[in-house]
Amino acid sequence: MSELSDPRLREMATSIPVYGQLPFVPVRAAGCDIVTADGRWILDLYGGHAVAALGYSHPRLTQAIQKQAGELLFQSNAVALDIRAQAAEQLVSVAPRKLDRAFFVNSGAEANENALRIALVATGRKKILAITHSFHGRTAAAGAVTWNNDKWYGFPEKPFDVDFIPRDDCDTARAMIGDDVAAVIFEPVQGVAGAYDLSADFVATLRRETAQNGTLLIADEVQSGIGRSGQFFAVQAYGIEPDILTSAKALGGGIPCGAVLCADELAKRFGPGDLGTTFGGGPVASAAIVAVIESIKSDNLLKNVCDREAQIREHCVVGPVKKIQGMGLLLGLVCDRPATDVRDILLEHDILTGTSSDPNVLRILAPLIVEQQHVTRLAAALATISSTDA
Ligand SMILES: Cc1ncc(COP(=O)(O)O)c(C=O)c1O
Repeated sequence: MSELSDPRLREMATSIPVYGQLPFVPVRAAGCDIVTADGRWILDLYGGHAVAALGYSHPRLTQAIQKQAGELLFQSNAVALDIRAQAAEQLVSVAPRKLDRAFFVNSGAEANENALRIALVATGRKKILAITHSFHGRTAAAGAVTWNNDKWYGFPEKPFDVDFIPRDDCDTARAMIGDDVAAVIFEPVQGVAGAYDLSADFVATLRRETAQNGTLLIADEVQSGIGRSGQFFAVQAYGIEPDILTSAKALGGGIPCGAVLCADELAKRFGPGDLGTTFGGGPVASAAIVAVIESIKSDNLLKNVCDREAQIREHCVVGPVKKIQGMGLLLGLVCDRPATDVRDILLEHDILTGTSSDPNVLRILAPLIVEQQHVTRLAAALATISSTDA
């Protein structure tokens, strides 16, 4: 590739430089493979940042998007659409039982922003609790409940009172959750923090204490949702029902979209004009949501997620990997060295993985269609890296 046509240099010259980018340029992708401009085939176990639930070029998803774009590319929420109704029906059918109302948005941060707004308005309270190590997005409200974000992404102050419960500390959770708290927001599996799965006791404590105090419990399943945990939503594995749940990333399999789900009694407190968005619930995004959910069901992908998780746990504690945390295909491989070093070596083997905010944790966010042979390849590549205590 000549310097003049290299998109890395052209993006560097034309974009605000906020992303550290990987050293390859994808030109197409199919299944779990990315084909690069210089002809490499890279096994994508990072799933496009947990987005590519069905991998790439999945026939049902691409056909649904193409068909919808040809028939009706866009109409806003000013009109009702059959395809939007189908997306909402599909989504609530796989969500925890009492979450039977959907509000569609465009991203994870926007979903959390609206979930927090719903909680503050519905309770009339001013305080939100989040969990240490959490990540909820980069907008004003989502950034305010993100851990270790002292500068609030450049906003001069937080839009409401926020405090953080130390993760997995049940006693402090009990002490902090009172009748002044509008909501507790939590990721059942903390994705950016390294796929750290909260303890079942802690999640049960959050549910019990919020219920007792009239506080709403918001599950941020932007990263853990839509099958990635081995259930449609990770809270289903924990056996709890939150009051509000947010989804994005894999929801559209690559088409930008997000959703806030809540119970009927909460939804009834909102009327025309209280929430809104131009693009949320657009027809192409809705068609993608339907195709993603139907494919997960018809291709038995939840079982595949559980099988591949078991295979990774059995075969990938090798070389630099000392232990594995997380759930389903949202896994953190805890390494004996900086995860960036391990990621770079795996990339030399044409395997793409991700890092996290925990310097020693490598993240696996594979497409839900990932195959046995792909995990075998990962295990073999990890085994070529000698452990520091070998
Ligand atoms: C748990 C969680 N919530 C929210 C977000 C923000 O989503 P988005 O980047 O679509 O705004 C992310 C993104 O990584 C996330 O992992």
